[in-house]
Amino acid sequence: MSDKFAAGLEDVVVAQSAICFIDGKRGQLVYRGYDIDDLATHSTFEEVAYLLWHGNLPSAAKLQTQHQEITEAMHLPDSILGIMKLLPKDTHPMRVLEVAVAALGTLDAQGEDNSEAANRAKATRLLAQLALVTTAWNRLRNGLEVLKPNANQNFAWNFLYLLTGKEPDEYAAKTFDVALILHADHELNASTFSARVTAATLSDMHSAIVSAIGTLKGPLHGGANEQVMNMLSAIGSVDNVEPWMTKLLSEKKKVMGFGHRVYKTKDPRAKILEKMSEELGKRTGQPQWFEISKKVEEIFQPTVAAKGIYPNVDFFSASAYHVMDIPHDLFTPIFACSRVAGWTAHLLEQYANNRLFRPASEYIGNTGLKWKPVNER
Ligand code: COA
Repeated sequence: MSDKFAAGLEDVVVAQSAICFIDGKRGQLVYRGYDIDDLATHSTFEEVAYLLWHGNLPSAAKLQTQHQEITEAMHLPDSILGIMKLLPKDTHPMRVLEVAVAALGTLDAQGEDNSEAANRAKATRLLAQLALVTTAWNRLRNGLEVLKPNANQNFAWNFLYLLTGKEPDEYAAKTFDVALILHADHELNASTFSARVTAATLSDMHSAIVSAIGTLKGPLHGGANEQVMNMLSAIGSVDNVEPWMTKLLSEKKKVMGFGHRVYKTKDPRAKILEKMSEELGKRTGQPQWFEISKKVEEIFQPTVAAKGIYPNVDFFSASAYHVMDIPHDLFTPIFACSRVAGWTAHLLEQYANNRLFRPASEYIGNTGLKWKPVNER
């Protein structure tokens, strides 16, 4: 085996980036120099998007300008809604996002313009439009009218309003805003890498975001939060955790929402989401989902502690979103609606200092074969 081979590119450094820093041993996550705990406590998702895109915190005026730009971009052309209406109602919302973002690229006047100014404008539009596609899809598939945002409210408030048609209470909007902050970026995770690989061919931003959405969709990445909720639903009660886990451990199956390529301690985002899940459970009178999650952690985590496996971002977000009445198949699209801030920040960085990604593989196939006519094979 080649000594250069690294399965899954583990620990291979393929980019220099000033956006996000992770210390996997200490469980630290930093956006542009600011610790995630500091941002989750004091900032807002819109401010974090600005920070990721520009590298510094905005003035009040700049934040207001960006807020207006995002809210104005929160609408979908009729032709996109028309395409969405043609899709089977049981299409997974991540697939809808892939279709809609590709289609939005065809309508964007700057679709093929890779200048920095055009890409900054597209980043803002994509942030607004992914939220619109996700919420509109849920309304369309339920035969409901697609709503317009309220310009006086922030992104998180509008997302919940556009989804449910109900004005969210302050706690729900604030909690959701924090969840968006926690998901906004994560260094060179699989979907960000795939976005950067696409951009590195000098393909356009919409194409790179479609690549990222397709990559996030998988259950080993963003799709894990939906799988966690499937597991919690299948377990059903705290009393059933023990027998359920015994069976799962005997089958040596992976537990979704646990483990991480970089963190070998508890994911700092999971610590914040754990508190949110507990509090939301109490407030909504549904504490059982947090309690089941906690029991799964208590039983499972010690069995894998030696491998450095702990709950990740997806583990407690599942129960938190569930008690907010968010449909389970929207958990991963919500991840995308937040991560698009990070994806686009990485794309701006990639375009600014580009080199094509083209790794190598070690050839382990046949050699020296000679072609034979079909009747001799
Ligand atoms: N449950 C049980 N065992 C797990 C596990 C989990 N969730 N995650 C990793 N492991 C075990 C593997 O079985 C393997 O054990 P082995 O060495 O005895 O064969 C070891 O830990 C290393 O796992 P591996 O899958 O090779 O690590 P990775 O760095 O390639 O994978 C993930 C990282 C995230 C893909 C992996 O932890 C996983 O599949 N987690 C579940 C999906 C998930 O929650 N994804 C969201 C990530 S934010």
